[in-house]
Amino acid sequence: MIESLLPRDVCCAEAFGDLPGAVLLDEEERDFVHAGPGRRRQSTTVRHLARQALARLGHAPAPVPRGPGGAPHWPDGVVGSMTHCAGYRAAVVADGRRLAAVGIDAEPHAALREGTLATISLPRERRLLAERHEGDPSIHWDRLLFSAKEAVYKCWYPLSLTPLDFGDVDVVFRAEGGHFDASVHPGGPAPGASAAPRTFTGRWAVAHGLIITAVSAPPVTGRRA
Ligand SMILES: CC(C)(COP(=O)(O)OP(=O)(O)OC[C@H]1O[C@@H](n2cnc3c(N)ncnc32)[C@H](O)[C@@H]1OP(=O)(O)O)[C@@H](O)C(=O)NCCC(=O)NCCS
Repeated sequence: MIESLLPRDVCCAEAFGDLPGAVLLDEEERDFVHAGPGRRRQSTTVRHLARQALARLGHAPAPVPRGPGGAPHWPDGVVGSMTHCAGYRAAVVADGRRLAAVGIDAEPHAALREGTLATISLPRERRLLAERHEGDPSIHWDRLLFSAKEAVYKCWYPLSLTPLDFGDVDVVFRAEGGHFDASVHPGGPAPGASAAPRTFTGRWAVAHGLIITAVSAPPVTGRRA
């Protein structure tokens, strides 16, 4: 499911539940000492998937501990992202010479809790969601917006090392289904590291009761600001 949303040279692995043979490596254990059992199982499975995706990229099994801000610490030369929610886990990796960063997110395909949309969206986004809802009322556009912002965050953070608020990111779902554009507001935080782009394109899909979103950033040399 996730691979259809990403460039072809991104290696992906996904599962619709936890995998009994999955284990954390020693270097990863310290990150989950205080995690509850459910959270620990999801993070264990997603790291097992990360090693499957790394193998597809030609890398030996490696630990993927949490780095700064919680972002996964990938082997040298690799970029990637992970997500886990009820009924889904996925990890994706790519050669850092082909992509600067990637971000993925999965959410249950269900409406956000009442009041949440107002806290995660800009007025312009709410107007667009109303239009898109008229076009296709079967989609939970509010949850899709949330997921798109989370995917952007996971792509932005490793490049910028700078936190974002939901109001810092402006997402536009294209009329053409399955695509979105996102920009980090010019008045928002300046990236702590200069490699971060401010505009992103992303893809989304709804299937199996899930919303999946994915964003990738091209390498600096090929990127337009
Ligand atoms: C980091 C965050 C985006 C994760 O999203 P989530 O829906 O809670 O959880 P997911 O299962 O989809 O993703 C969890 C994975 O994200 C990754 N992740 C965590 N922090 C990250 C960061 N700063 N940068 C990139 N990836 C990160 C990790 O791989 C994590 O897996 P792990 O817990 O097993 O290590 C979210 O928890 C968060 O901190 N949000 C605050 C920032 C934010 O949302 N800003 C507004 C959006 S613009």
